[in-house]
Amino acid sequence: MTDKTVDVVCVASWNVDLVSHVPQPLKRGETLMASSFATSPGGKGSNAAVAAARQGASVGLIARIGDDDFGRMGLALWAREGIDPRHVVQAAGERSGVAQILVYEDGDNSIAVAPGAGLGLNAQHVQAAQGMVSACKVVMASLEVPQRATCEAFALAKQAGAWTLLNPAPAQPVDAALWRMVDVLTPNESELQSLSGLPAHASLQEAAQVLLSEGVQAVVVTLGEKGCALFRAEAPPVWLSGHPQKVVDTIGAGDTFTGSLAAALARGEGLEQAMRWANAAAALSVTQASALGGMPSLQATRAALQNT
Ligand code: RIB
Repeated sequence: MTDKTVDVVCVASWNVDLVSHVPQPLKRGETLMASSFATSPGGKGSNAAVAAARQGASVGLIARIGDDDFGRMGLALWAREGIDPRHVVQAAGERSGVAQILVYEDGDNSIAVAPGAGLGLNAQHVQAAQGMVSACKVVMASLEVPQRATCEAFALAKQAGAWTLLNPAPAQPVDAALWRMVDVLTPNESELQSLSGLPAHASLQEAAQVLLSEGVQAVVVTLGEKGCALFRAEAPPVWLSGHPQKVVDTIGAGDTFTGSLAAALARGEGLEQAMRWANAAAALSVTQASALGGMPSLQATRAALQNT
């Protein structure tokens, strides 16, 4: 049987976000009264998949979710967004992932993820989706999914000549074999510093160089309101300014960046131009509440780029 073709495959995490708004970060042992609470779709993988779909890409997921209400919420979301769920496994008797998120007055946040059924995603789930992966243009993942699954997907992508994108969040030790299969890495500043192992005073370029020497082909560092920067071994750095916005919350801005980058690469844009699309889309994403609230369409992103 042949798989339906998609442009972008996401080895995806799925969480329901439990979001409380508080004035500032909690101290250890402290209780604060939240001004509001909401639940919304999340998970770095699912968020990036939705971003890519809104940027016009056809997207397929490889994911493992619970057979609970939160899992059904994911399936309903992906149906609305036109995302192919054929390789989403619902694990009997298991819970879906949840993310407890505190959003502060300046829009910044802290997140604790309990991945639930997502922790069971493995290489066999990816092998079952081999037809979809081998026919796509871009495979993306984050460090919220088990690295054995991502390694399998990136190995298939490499055989097929597809791009591989890794959002290294949350930062944690990465297998040497995985580094060597990453075409584009999309850390934020703190993830880059943590992954490089260099002290905080090291420059972005020095930190990126550590990961390039591990075999990563390109490092695109997201810098929030300051934009982003691209580092490669054989080319000078490329710096893009940010698009100033009124920040409501920054949940999912990095995922919007990665998903929009994937969609642009799948459309055939070069990496530097794809980075411009991703930079503009991520800026728009912070203007509304929740991970998906401000995530823009291709048309809205094009308009933002034309106005700069
Ligand atoms: O990047 C934001 C996401 O991180 C949230 O949606 C949350 O679910 C965690 O995965």
